Amino acid sequence: MEQPLFAPFRSPKLTLKNRIAMAPMTRSFSVGNVPNAEVVEYYRKRAAGGTGLIITEGTCVDHEAAHGFQAVPNFFGDDALAGWSQVVKAVHAEGGKIAPQLWHVGAVRTPGDYPGGQLPAYSPSGLAAPGVPTGKKMSESDVADVIEAFASAAENAKAVGMDAIELHGAHGYLIDQFFWQATNQRTDRYGGDFQSRSQFALEMLAAIRARVGEDYPIIFRYSQWKQQDYGARLVQTPKALESFLGPLSDAGVDIFHCSQRRFWDAEFDGSDLNLAGWTKKLTGKPTISVGSVGLDQDFIADVKEGFKSAQSVGIEKLEELLDRGDFDLIAIGRALIANPDWPRLIETGQSDKLVDFSKDMLYSLDGA
Ligand SMILES: Cc1cc2nc3c(=O)[nH]c(=O)nc-3n(C[C@H](O)[C@H](O)[C@H](O)COP(=O)(O)O)c2cc1C
Repeated sequence: MEQPLFAPFRSPKLTLKNRIAMAPMTRSFSVGNVPNAEVVEYYRKRAAGGTGLIITEGTCVDHEAAHGFQAVPNFFGDDALAGWSQVVKAVHAEGGKIAPQLWHVGAVRTPGDYPGGQLPAYSPSGLAAPGVPTGKKMSESDVADVIEAFASAAENAKAVGMDAIELHGAHGYLIDQFFWQATNQRTDRYGGDFQSRSQFALEMLAAIRARVGEDYPIIFRYSQWKQQDYGARLVQTPKALESFLGPLSDAGVDIFHCSQRRFWDAEFDGSDLNLAGWTKKLTGKPTISVGSVGLDQDFIADVKEGFKSAQSVGIEKLEELLDRGDFDLIAIGRALIANPDWPRLIETGQSDKLVDFSKDMLYSLDGA
């Protein structure tokens, strides 16, 4: 019997050889904000290891305050795009597909040694978290500039041969700061009820669609949880989730990437569907799930201690949910840092060879 993880994925705009995506993970090794030969090799290895779709680390759009961390790659400018073009070629040569995760950190930044690192943060209401003022509240022309930066990054993605783009609308960064009422207290058309708080993302999707055309796949990542508050939730009920996702789906999202810290957690009482399960049911669009696949500790189990090491565990539950059709794809994060060939080892029944995730692996791009 075919393993559910290794059945091909077919959707109207994107076809993949299996159900495995690499989760976007910031690695901070792109010195000068340009992906270098080491970064090319890092992604090539994951494609060679059998990953169907690589979603890159967050890569910043062309806005003066998009960055918030050191050595994060740009997704604009000749040098960075030449680097990304090498990454694309290497991944394609190994039979994989790839999408960049386009990113603006908004209010989540402290002054630092990165482009624009001394400028004020930009955000919907000048709030990094409820009651935590920072930086500047974006004017309508700032909003237009950032939308343009995302649209032109999407155009760049298509031009360098990326197979899709992913918008980072999760984890309390800029797009999510607009969604989240606690950080969006605007009274213009970008604030107010859910529809208005989604306006920024909706206008961005329209601008991107106009630049990349109807046939180019757009993946949209969102989360209930925020790095500012792991217990925060954008919506409390399936009905509210439906009214949040419906306009995004209508605006042209092709695939939703639903970020959870544990993929098996049910999203609402009375059903064991997770966030990706509900998203697929409510929108009819394909979904990507994520969270602690193959590991016994979730992503930032304790934020004060930072990343924890985690041991390998079986993936029976994942196979059950995939087989049931709850969601279409699964993103693997830390287990793919530890094991570039995670898919191959699983497919060939060699899970005894899987290496545990150690946080020390984050100190270099070539793993342990
Ligand atoms: C080192 C590291 C960096 C991350 N950077 C990003 C990022 O740039 N964008 C993003 O959406 N999520 C990011 N995440 C979250 C992952 O995409 C993923 O959702 C999380 O690690 C859970 O998956 P896992 O349990 O399989 O590791 C990061 C996670 C790790 C471990």
